[in-house]
Amino acid sequence: MRPLFVRRARQLVTLAGSSAAPLVGKNMSDLSIMENGSVWIENGTITAVGPDDELVRRFADRLAEAEVIDARGKTVTPGLVDPHTHLVYAGSREHEWTMRLGGATYMEIMNAGGGIHATTKATREASEETLYEESKRRLDQFLLHGVTTVEAKSGYGLSLEHEMKQLNVAKRLHDTHPVDVVSTFLGAHAVPPEWKHDREEYIRLIVEEMIPEVSRQGLAEFNDVFCERGVFTPDEARRILEAGKAHGLTPKIHADEIEPYGGAELAAEVGAISADHLLRASDDGLRRMAERGVIGVLLPGTAFFLLTNAANARRLLDAGVPVALATDCNSGSSPTVSLPLVMSLACLHMRMTPAEALAAATINAAHAIGRAHVIGSLEPGKKADLVVFNVPNYVQIMYYYGVNHAETVIKDGKVVVA
Ligand code: NIG
Ligand code: FE
Repeated sequence: MRPLFVRRARQLVTLAGSSAAPLVGKNMSDLSIMENGSVWIENGTITAVGPDDELVRRFADRLAEAEVIDARGKTVTPGLVDPHTHLVYAGSREHEWTMRLGGATYMEIMNAGGGIHATTKATREASEETLYEESKRRLDQFLLHGVTTVEAKSGYGLSLEHEMKQLNVAKRLHDTHPVDVVSTFLGAHAVPPEWKHDREEYIRLIVEEMIPEVSRQGLAEFNDVFCERGVFTPDEARRILEAGKAHGLTPKIHADEIEPYGGAELAAEVGAISADHLLRASDDGLRRMAERGVIGVLLPGTAFFLLTNAANARRLLDAGVPVALATDCNSGSSPTVSLPLVMSLACLHMRMTPAEALAAATINAAHAIGRAHVIGSLEPGKKADLVVFNVPNYVQIMYYYGVNHAETVIKDGKVVVA
């Protein structure tokens, strides 16, 4: 493979130096930006990052063989990382959106058999091939927006057979698509209709059958629970997350989205890698998260699309909780693949600075899925996942909102979008 030389970025945003621990507090604004910076790439890996003249000198005898990308006047960042998606599902729920625009709430629709249940029905009915094709289309769109790694949750199968089908599709996508897919088991996304009158039995199935099998087949790294009144209680979530831990699955949690429910506290107690949503997390919950280093994954696209106030990121940042950002891509509460738009919303509705938003969608997002040793920053030894944005500085990626500025995407050292 020829070396790849990305040269002379107006802003090369490296985010170097934070692979060991997530950025927190004031450090979230420290992007380590280089002007007129270049990156030398070999065999899918970053070999060197530095001022252009320095790299030209160092690789003088190999310049002729390298493929060159001229990034003059542009901004180069690490490939964006989306640490919370429901990528693999079938169908679409625009009719529910129309109902919500008319005044119905998300929970009303779910309790009437729509919401997660509607997507579960469509996902169960879809063949593995259809599920693969529908999800692949979304993954293609993620890539076009500069996203090179996504986390993907199951949770629309809600039976051993169909959860496995979803996780198998995620694995196939990881194996066949340029975007890396990191899987999370979310059997506890909802109690499916057939167990509505015996939720205890459904939880037993998760704990005694699904988790062991997912773990045995190595189909997920993380185990997530939708912990919310009317879905799973904190006690149920604790049992499920502890069972996952016993089988090597790291806990994640959908926490305190609709009302304060002890989700942030539970995340700290079980040592979750992240707690996500957190719109209504208590002060004490946030303090405990900060103490245990639990990352807060904020999802401003979801609040925007559900017509609710977004989480106040400043509360988390002031409490010392490292913040990451994600799309929550799903057909009910956030049908988007645009992580850059989510970054704009984080600035507009959550009071994050553009610098914090970019750190939250790169290195901190990588930490939220246990990948910060390989992705999330531009440093020698890391995977060569980079985006060239056709704007002169990183703020414009978010400022010109709703526009896709990603021009060239490099994944594992290969140009995959040009
Ligand atoms: O993260 N909150 C739970 N799950 C998703 C929504 C899933 C759906 O509506 O299909 C979320 O917002
Ligand atoms: Fe979610």
